[in-house]
Amino acid sequence: MNGIERVYQFLDEVHTYYLATVEGVQPRVRAFGTALLYDGKLYIQTGKVKPVSKQIAANPKVEICAFKGGKWLRIAGELVNDDNRDVKVAMLDKMPSLKPMYSADDDNMQMLYFKNATATFSSFTEEPEVIQF
Ligand SMILES: Cc1cc2nc3c(=O)[nH]c(=O)nc-3n(C[C@H](O)[C@H](O)[C@H](O)COP(=O)(O)O)c2cc1C
Repeated sequence: MNGIERVYQFLDEVHTYYLATVEGVQPRVRAFGTALLYDGKLYIQTGKVKPVSKQIAANPKVEICAFKGGKWLRIAGELVNDDNRDVKVAMLDKMPSLKPMYSADDDNMQMLYFKNATATFSSFTEEPEVIQF
């Protein structure tokens, strides 16, 4: 498994991770659970009507934190909007629980992928491992 695949697998396994954005000078953080590896890119999903989406539009720099089994992962990077319908369909197929809230054609569902990302796996016992994508 290559680096981005391992990052994706970790997010999938934790089920819930925490996504931080910036609103002016105020950090904002909330629980997220969507993740998709598509076309070699790591995507997350949200709704364009949400404050989180508006914060990312104003400042695409975000950070994710996730923890499982003595290891934690941080991903710092920028999120890029992708309105490709196929990637929305792939997300809905992977997580059908999204379907009551979103559809690929609803003008709300938003797919965002990481660019200039630095993912760091850490633990109390091992040296940090850094993966760039
Ligand atoms: C376990 C869990 C997973 C969640 N996953 C997502 C997600 O992947 N995408 C999303 O937009 N909202 C998700 N939510 C809902 C957001 O946390 C919630 O809408 C939050 O208010 C969004 O942040 P905002 O209010 O700053 O826009 C999830 C909530 C929980 C409890």
